[in-house]
Amino acid sequence: MGSLSYFKVTKIVFFFLLLIIISRVAYGSNYYEDFDITWGEGRGKIVNNGELLTLSLDNYSGSGFQSKKEYLFGRIDMQLKLVPGNSAGTVTAYYMSSQGSTHDEIDFEFLGNLSGEPYTIHTNVYTQGKGEREQQFHLWFDPTADFHTFSVLWNPQTIVFSVDGTPIREFKNLEKIGVPFPKTQAMRLYSSIWNADQWATRGGLIKTDWTRAPFTASYRNFNADACTKSSSRASSCTFAGKSNRTPWLSQELDPPLRKRLKWVQNNYMIYNYCTDTKRFPQGLPPECNAKVT
Ligand SMILES: *[C@@H]1O[C@H](CO)[C@@H](O)[C@H](O)[C@H]1NC(C)=O
Ligand SMILES: *[C@@H]1O[C@H](CO)[C@@H](O)[C@H](O)[C@H]1NC(C)=O
Repeated sequence: MGSLSYFKVTKIVFFFLLLIIISRVAYGSNYYEDFDITWGEGRGKIVNNGELLTLSLDNYSGSGFQSKKEYLFGRIDMQLKLVPGNSAGTVTAYYMSSQGSTHDEIDFEFLGNLSGEPYTIHTNVYTQGKGEREQQFHLWFDPTADFHTFSVLWNPQTIVFSVDGTPIREFKNLEKIGVPFPKTQAMRLYSSIWNADQWATRGGLIKTDWTRAPFTASYRNFNADACTKSSSRASSCTFAGKSNRTPWLSQELDPPLRKRLKWVQNNYMIYNYCTDTKRFPQGLPPECNAKVT
């Protein structure tokens, strides 16, 4: 009798654990819960019961969305599938930003191209309202053929931009040498698609082909393991996400990831402000000369 009820209890506990696991997997991300479409008059859409979001651009307007929550540190993952075919002149921006004139910002921007020509990934980091820290990359795959994961790891030590788990850029906390680092202003997540054929593709030489409109980018599987700012108490935050552990809060690049980062920088980086001495005749920004540890 005693052992029977023991098995019954174990079965019931096991059943509930299974239910919890299944419900978490099945739920995944829900774009209705996490985001607001903020502009574009119907050109931004949440579909498939909240599992997929699409933004489109035509000759009348682009579109955009933003997260309902504000984050202060976290690991943010999103799968994006960029505008396929001839996307020249279009820009899809995917970034985190705080508000105001001394805002902080962590940017990915995807500059479209002619069919078969590579997309450019433009990245930047603003601290205290100042950017001018551009790095640009091509990719080792076609980002329009399928969904790929674009991630930002942001903690008090570092900011790491990753693509499918491969780091492409790191912005370390170098406050000790006087470089401001984003660590007090919470940021929302934003994305938008717009026409930038004045400058985007080959410096503006190639214009948007409106006969191909609408241009559509797609988003799925959003996940934020992050500290979420609660609106009621401005300075406090609660940890949210898949786990209540926070490994991302102290995570830094280990030697294998550092090696991957080097590989990307050696083979796919096409612009680095830190080597643009013509642009900074008074000397490169201080973070450029800091020794990489
Ligand atoms: C925008 O595209 C539509 C449909 O292709 C076309 O009829 C219209 O003339 C275009 N408008 C402008 C301002 O180019
Ligand atoms: C477009 O393709 C050209 C030719 O391969 C390349 O030089 C350029 O970096 C690509 N991206 C943009 C945004 O122009």
